[in-house]
Amino acid sequence: MILHHPVNHYLYAYGMLEKAYQEGKLKAIGLSNFPVDKIQEILDHCKIPPMVMQVEGHPYYPAEACHEFCDAHDIKLQCWFPLGHGSQELLNDPVVVELAKAHDRTPAQIVLRWHVQMGFTPMPGSRSEGHIAENAKIFDFSLTEEEMQKMAGINRHTPFYKVTPESLARLATTKCNFEE
Ligand SMILES: NC(=O)c1ccc[n+]([C@@H]2O[C@H](COP(=O)([O-])OP(=O)(O)OC[C@H]3O[C@@H](n4cnc5c(N)ncnc54)[C@H](OP(=O)(O)O)[C@@H]3O)[C@@H](O)[C@H]2O)c1
Repeated sequence: MILHHPVNHYLYAYGMLEKAYQEGKLKAIGLSNFPVDKIQEILDHCKIPPMVMQVEGHPYYPAEACHEFCDAHDIKLQCWFPLGHGSQELLNDPVVVELAKAHDRTPAQIVLRWHVQMGFTPMPGSRSEGHIAENAKIFDFSLTEEEMQKMAGINRHTPFYKVTPESLARLATTKCNFEE
């Protein structure tokens, strides 16, 4: 189960996830969008460290600070917007297209393979049966070291999702109606 940031009383909420984990009700505990200083705060207080961290990640924004921190603490990075939210700019990026041609794959498969070789777990979204099947076929080829370097060269250090005070406030006050 994933605890999303922002959330009030996150240390208390995390403790509830730990309890559920200890009772065998959860297989893993994850975090989403927590800044590194707050992950550290959780690590300082928890008995069971988080196993997964979800963050926006793709070749244009490989979430470097979070990646480095999570690697150091053995937390698996799971990327949302792994295809840049279907960004045509990313899927038509000359480097991505060049590698797609070289491997006889689609640009999406090149991007998803890049995730795997970065050690990320991409979670692509799709409403297309064809895309879902295509996105799963990324384990029978690999990008060379040189090709991974080329992919590193397209890093823009900029996420697609822009966090604003308003979007944070909206998320922090969202209430789920589990009855519905
Ligand atoms: N934790 C968080 O805060 C957070 C935030 C945002 C999103 N998420 C989650 O992250 C997941 C992914 O997000 P996302 O779906 O917005 O981003 P995404 O996976 O980067 O992009 C999805 C878009 O890419 C297209 N696509 C998928 N496979 C493709 C392919 N093989 N070729 C060409 N286009 C392809 C999809 O169109 P088609 O439908 O036509 O395939 C869709 O428009 C979702 O489960 C979402 O709920 C989590």
